Amino acid sequence: MSGSKQPLIAAVLGSPRRGGNTEMLLEAAVRGAEEEGAVVEWVRPNQMKFVACQHCGGCAATGICVIKDEMQTVYDLIERMDAMLLASPIYFGSVTAQVKAMIDRSQALWARKYLLHHPLSADGKLRPLLFLSVLGGRSRGQIRATRRVVRSFGDTWDGPYEDLIFPRIDLQGEIADHWTALPQVHAAGQELAVRLQQEG
Ligand SMILES: Cc1cc2nc3c(=O)[nH]c(=O)nc-3n(C[C@H](O)[C@H](O)[C@H](O)COP(=O)(O)O)c2cc1C
Repeated sequence: MSGSKQPLIAAVLGSPRRGGNTEMLLEAAVRGAEEEGAVVEWVRPNQMKFVACQHCGGCAATGICVIKDEMQTVYDLIERMDAMLLASPIYFGSVTAQVKAMIDRSQALWARKYLLHHPLSADGKLRPLLFLSVLGGRSRGQIRATRRVVRSFGDTWDGPYEDLIFPRIDLQGEIADHWTALPQVHAAGQELAVRLQQEG
């Protein structure tokens, strides 16, 4: 990214529930980022046609996934993006199946980094990963476990990791009643866009 260019942020909506808490959080963060000049490209795994990683080994020699489905657009976006906003509710102590399938497909990026020793970050971009999440309960163990999964996704491209996770949010749209959540993620989106431009 050059100094004058608008940063590109990938916004990944991991919840299948339309108008749900995750979507509201992500929309607020995206609004903040756009207000500060970022360009946002949305990824909606729940609406995409792609398979889970088949462990075929096809990426081992090249770092490029050989399965030609809609994940190819995500690989392309990860290469082009300056940062990712990833939002998922916690389901059974982790991200949703849709997000986990996407994360598993990042095995191709993992291969680039660990097998071929040519990580995506070799192009000099930091690509921070800001994870936004909600959970109906308040289990710290579940938060820790989810964090570990998402962090390992960002690690495949060496993306610095941050998160904002809101417990005890269960009913559809309940996040709007939280005192600080929406303003907090809105501000985080703004800060991310500003930071990317300063670092650019
Ligand atoms: C399949 C499923 C699994 C869930 N698993 C958990 C869980 O393990 N821990 C928890 O605290 N909440 C769990 N929840 C509750 C959701 O995290 C919560 O309802 C959240 O607000 C949903 O976000 P959304 O509105 O973006 O869909 C689960 C909900 C569903 C539908």
